Amino acid sequence: MSFNFQENRLFVESKALSEIAQEFGTPCYVYSRAAFESQLAQYHKGLDGQSGLICYAVKACSNIAILNILAKKGAGFDIVSIGELQRVIRAGGDPKKVVFSGVAKEYKEIQYALEVGIHCFNVESPDEIDLINQVAFDLNKIAPISLRVNPDVDAKTHPYISTGLKDNKFGVDIKQAVSVYERAAKLKNIEIKGVDCHIGSQLIDMTPFMDALDRVLNLVDELAKKNIIISHLDLGGGIGVDYQGETPPDIAAYIQDVREKIKGRDLSLIFEPGRSISANSGVLLTKVQFLKPNDHKNFAIIDAGMNDLIRPSLYSAWQKIQLIEPSSAPLKTWDLVGPICETGDFLGKDRELALEQNAVVAVMGSGAYGFSMSSNYNSRNKPCEILVDGAKVHVIGKRQTIEQQLENEQLISE
Ligand code: LLP
Repeated sequence: MSFNFQENRLFVESKALSEIAQEFGTPCYVYSRAAFESQLAQYHKGLDGQSGLICYAVKACSNIAILNILAKKGAGFDIVSIGELQRVIRAGGDPKKVVFSGVAKEYKEIQYALEVGIHCFNVESPDEIDLINQVAFDLNKIAPISLRVNPDVDAKTHPYISTGLKDNKFGVDIKQAVSVYERAAKLKNIEIKGVDCHIGSQLIDMTPFMDALDRVLNLVDELAKKNIIISHLDLGGGIGVDYQGETPPDIAAYIQDVREKIKGRDLSLIFEPGRSISANSGVLLTKVQFLKPNDHKNFAIIDAGMNDLIRPSLYSAWQKIQLIEPSSAPLKTWDLVGPICETGDFLGKDRELALEQNAVVAVMGSGAYGFSMSSNYNSRNKPCEILVDGAKVHVIGKRQTIEQQLENEQLISE
């Protein structure tokens, strides 16, 4: 395990987190290189001997040093904006291993993606196919596409991160898919490559994945009858992680199950994992600023807020919080609340901890949708990001400054 206790002190690889907090201050994200690499390796192990691509979902944790580490291990990338594509390229990622998801791609984004030569567009609506065809025509190129289908399966996850139901804005209803493909097949600057589906995030039960796969394979057969040949299946991301004692599926075994189901077909496989690669590869360190117990509640005011890590406020997400060093303070039940002027600004409620002023705690599982969803709300500077590699410590994201926050703002002259 990349995060482990040694004599009651929490370490990341062979570095004590307390030394990092001391040197770089808090709040601060800390990542483990080994953790990122070993999670990616699980996917590659599952794919071994099968043609395919692991496209890490950049949105989960987008720091270019992280993307670079994953690219060096052979990862491709799932992107949802031109900004993410520019990150991938800056990080030395291969555009030919990039799939472009997202419901609202713009002309300029499609243009750039075609110019750098991405692997595939994951198209989410008929209008988008027309726009991609138009841009490709203007550039005298052929655009590779997959249609993201909405298989209408219940991923049984938080409603905000469920994406494969009829009620969700994503993809095209699987029932309309054949006609959308037939139309696309007639367009001169479009090349049909695959079928794509992503049904939700933080899935622990594999049944919805397998149900979706069955539906997608039926579609592939339907299309074959119409002479539309699919060469890859993109099954999206979504594999859950252990935040609170969940038992997530074994990644390589899941891929084996998928391979079993597609046996005998000439299909390559794409996966777009985000959380399962990055969540437990990072923590957020935050310091107790003040203790404010009252008759009713014990508040521990910490120096990280919902602007630094929004998951608890936005999805009522539970992430483990633990002291990084032993403490002699009494064990009490605390609400860990941030500096933001909002009642919803908390990172954990009712936590049994031996807190004292200036103690540093680690919010575990913060490597996914942590820094990448942070904001400047309350004009707070974004935290720094540190990567540990063995005993080596690298600053991969400096703490933001107020000058940087104000860079694009200007006074008017009157
Ligand atoms: N592919 C597509 C098209 C996606 O929309 C997503 C995530 C992924 C892949 C990666 O999914 P993952 O493997 O990470 O589950 N902010 C939320 C999660 C939002 C997920 C959005 N889409 C959270 O913090 O729980």
